[in-house]
Amino acid sequence: MRHSRILGIGHYVPPTVLTNHDLETQMDTSDDWIRQRTGIEERRVVTEESTSDLGYEAAVRAIAKAGLEPKDIDLIVFATLSPDFYFPGAGVLLQHKLGVGEIPALDIRQQCSGFVYGLAVADQFIRTGAYEHVLLVGAEVQSKGLDYTTRGRDVAVIFGDGAGAVVLGPSDEPGIHSFHLHSQGKYHDMLWMEKPGSAHRPIITPEDIEEGRQFPKMEGQTVFKHATRRFGEVIKEALAANNLTVDDIDMFFFHQANLRIIEAISKALKIPPTKTYNNLHRYGNTTAASLPLCMSEAVDAGHLRPGHLICPAAFGSGFTWASAIIRW
Ligand code: UT7
Repeated sequence: MRHSRILGIGHYVPPTVLTNHDLETQMDTSDDWIRQRTGIEERRVVTEESTSDLGYEAAVRAIAKAGLEPKDIDLIVFATLSPDFYFPGAGVLLQHKLGVGEIPALDIRQQCSGFVYGLAVADQFIRTGAYEHVLLVGAEVQSKGLDYTTRGRDVAVIFGDGAGAVVLGPSDEPGIHSFHLHSQGKYHDMLWMEKPGSAHRPIITPEDIEEGRQFPKMEGQTVFKHATRRFGEVIKEALAANNLTVDDIDMFFFHQANLRIIEAISKALKIPPTKTYNNLHRYGNTTAASLPLCMSEAVDAGHLRPGHLICPAAFGSGFTWASAIIRW
């Protein structure tokens, strides 16, 4: 039986650091407020690069870690909520930047859950034998689209730029054991970027821009409550489907949205801190990049090792939420 597994992982963050103290000079906020409510201390921001540029940097690192070359990739899956353009997607731009042949490239738009959804997509294509080596990228440039004024402070302080990537390939033993994916579109406007969009004619107006409707908006407390509940549910769903308990898992990786959410889930599920790895204090919420960025750093730091059984989980805009069980 043909399975899929992760062959290599890499990440990239732009070098420019934007601290909470820097934000204090741009809006009515404070380092204390941001740390206490979110756990974030700083985040990375691009100067000129685009999402596909960050994705490229992470991709070449992941491909090298897999012991492969770009020409060995036969499908690109690009997860992002901040593509370079409304269309075409970031995947085709990455295909061009990698200088590879005319391979397929698809974008997926599941925001913070994009990486886990992408794992499921890649797994399907490998298990059916359609493709050998799938490059899955999660990359975001949020900073160019945030409202860095007091009006946008609840959202702007949370998000950061970055990228992570994995290469998946075929395996006799299961690497990706399972995935559980969910959505609930009735909450689409709890965390969203309303305009521009085809729901409107015209897609955006000068008045919309004046009112800041091109910036992401979030009902923070509602998102917080749903996130806490859904993270717990989808992790339990993954464990139950594999006849596992928390004790059987070596590492849990949480989408890095808010340290209070991560602590609440860890407490409820009795997950010890030694089984988690967090980096949101340095990067903030990098949506689709968050999980691979975390997992890649955990590999580099020696926390995530070959043979480990891991459970990544995510929740975000849509709402969407997802988990997976993976043998590293
Ligand atoms: O990635 C997808 C998943 N996303 C999430 O899971 C995010 C979930 N939500 C959250 O993390 C939290 O709701 C936030 C961190 C966004 C906000 O924390 P909160 O404890 O829910 O604060 P709040 O929205 O209830 O706001 C409390 C106060 C308000 O002032 P008043 O009305 O009490 O006077 C806000 O205006 O904090 C104010 N506030 C700020 N103050 C200083 C909001 N943003 C800021 C800010 N600095 N940046």
